[in-house]
Amino acid sequence: MFERETVKAMMTEQVRKTLERNFANIGTLPAIIGSLVRILNDPRSSTKDLAKVISADQVLCSKLLRIVNSAYYNLKQEVIDVKHAISLIGYNTIRCFMFCITIFDNAFSLQSGVVFDKEEFWYHSLSTAVISRKIGERLRLENSQDLFVAGLVHDIGKVLMLQFMPAKFYRILEIAKRENISFNDVERKLFCTDHSEIGAWAMTRWELPDMLIKCVQYHHHALFNTDCAEPHEIVSLADSITKENEIGFSGDKISSEYYDILKWKYNIRQRWIERALIDVKRETENYADIIGNKK
Ligand SMILES: [Fe+2]
Ligand SMILES: [Fe+2]
Repeated sequence: MFERETVKAMMTEQVRKTLERNFANIGTLPAIIGSLVRILNDPRSSTKDLAKVISADQVLCSKLLRIVNSAYYNLKQEVIDVKHAISLIGYNTIRCFMFCITIFDNAFSLQSGVVFDKEEFWYHSLSTAVISRKIGERLRLENSQDLFVAGLVHDIGKVLMLQFMPAKFYRILEIAKRENISFNDVERKLFCTDHSEIGAWAMTRWELPDMLIKCVQYHHHALFNTDCAEPHEIVSLADSITKENEIGFSGDKISSEYYDILKWKYNIRQRWIERALIDVKRETENYADIIGNKK
């Protein structure tokens, strides 16, 4: 079973110190993230608590109402009440969605260059989220909606790198492009860690759910200890399907070395991918439009 301590154990002392130093400012994230993390973590938190936090933030509030009033949910009457909106979409999905929007928006608003395209990154994350959920539904897993959230946050480490160490981030991006190697390989060579460890490390500090941390930490390191479905493998598979089909961009176009094995393990054939992509593109486009990150 996954333990929070695993994140620490995986890292060398040197890497941990580097992270502590580089992420000393992590506490300067907007207060609303702290509120969302608290709600995300508290099993006693309710729709009312979440509605209160979202209502206090005009941007989040309007994004949520746009999600619920979009053509995707096909409602007959316009929803104007945040609590009602949460009850329609589902508490778990919304709280994580709001969390991601806030983290991503915060990082990208500080971005000075134009080298990394925010919209393309959203497409990559949303497509990985939708495909992860679809694979979960195909396997009839109970946690398919959680897989959506895991797909959405899987590259959160990159967002944090962009925010807290932009020079390093751009250097990795540039080398990966020039030498046509994965972002992950460049990170490891230059930095002795990668965005999956950074993301998992930050999420551990924020005390987010173990399942999400595990998906973030291992989405480039598929483990094959069991015959049963593993959420991080599903996210890894969805990540590769997204890259292979060039939906958005997250730093490189290279799919996982485990892609073929994962397709085999989860019995994902090309025909299923082609059919799924029709929904994925429509849903991804819809979400990207709603959350207001289109150019
Ligand atoms: Fe990644
Ligand atoms: Fe990714």
